[in-house]
Amino acid sequence: MIFVRTCNLIFRKFYIGALSIWEELFPKFVSITTNTAQGKTSSATTSEINDFLDQKTNKGNNNSLSFTLKVWRQKNTEEKGQISSYEAVDVSPDMSFLEMLDVVNEKIELDGVEPIAFDSDCREGICGSCSLVINGQPHGPGGGVTTCQLYMRSFEDKSTITIEPWRAKAFPLVRDLCVDRSAFDRIIEAGGYVSVNTGSAPDANSMLISQDTAEEAMDAAACIGCGACVASCKNASAMLFVSAKVKHLNTLPQGQPERKRRTISMLEAMEKEGFGNCTNEYECEAVCPKNISVEHISFLNRDFLKSKI
Ligand code: SF4
Ligand code: FES
Repeated sequence: MIFVRTCNLIFRKFYIGALSIWEELFPKFVSITTNTAQGKTSSATTSEINDFLDQKTNKGNNNSLSFTLKVWRQKNTEEKGQISSYEAVDVSPDMSFLEMLDVVNEKIELDGVEPIAFDSDCREGICGSCSLVINGQPHGPGGGVTTCQLYMRSFEDKSTITIEPWRAKAFPLVRDLCVDRSAFDRIIEAGGYVSVNTGSAPDANSMLISQDTAEEAMDAAACIGCGACVASCKNASAMLFVSAKVKHLNTLPQGQPERKRRTISMLEAMEKEGFGNCTNEYECEAVCPKNISVEHISFLNRDFLKSKI
């Protein structure tokens, strides 16, 4: 990595130096024609190219931001944790929150400090791994987005950002900002499946489902299992997550054979894992990056009652 960066720097210096000489000798020919993405042409001078390269690295850019990060550090489940401070400088407003953490990690690693452990995978708002409480709010101040889709322009320049892990008994801390969310997997194992053979895609399309039903099921299926609903709830309840999974399958014809069993066993698994119950706080809905509605919880409660009778 250091070798590549050094080569990059040498090339950049050489290229800009050569361009400056050319500019002095032939000022009229200094326009460099480049193809833009639209297939049109545009012109750039040496200083414009320099600015462009600086923007890329965000060095010396007037738009660059800096932050003081207060990060929860904890070696493992047993040891006590504490908040540690780090400086994030030359942060581009277009960096995602996780990219900013990557840059901070690169710097502190060079200083011999253990990098901050945090989870991520898809970085596209799909997998639900990026579970961080930012300034006291799961997934931060964006609203309707996951941490990986939160951009640094959402934060005030030179402000202090506090970063903590999900805090819930059922999500034991593994290290720093990583928690074990396998309790969700065990709830899914308890009933988040269908036993009927649904065949291939053409078979599925041959089963008529009304538009309303399909949309209801799809809205519920948007849940990515991130756990922000649990992290925001004073009871650490997983009702929003469970209700989304139950509603997704219980509304579709393919989910009917296990409907009653699914509802009861997923709720039992939720209790067994140590999640609390719902007392209508609505915090879960407010922080959910996929805007899962608390109406699904009403559906779950109705289905639970019917299943018990
Ligand atoms: S309901 Fe929302 S907050 Fe809860 S796990 Fe699903 S996507 Fe995450
Ligand atoms: S990393 Fe996958 S949702 Fe954020």
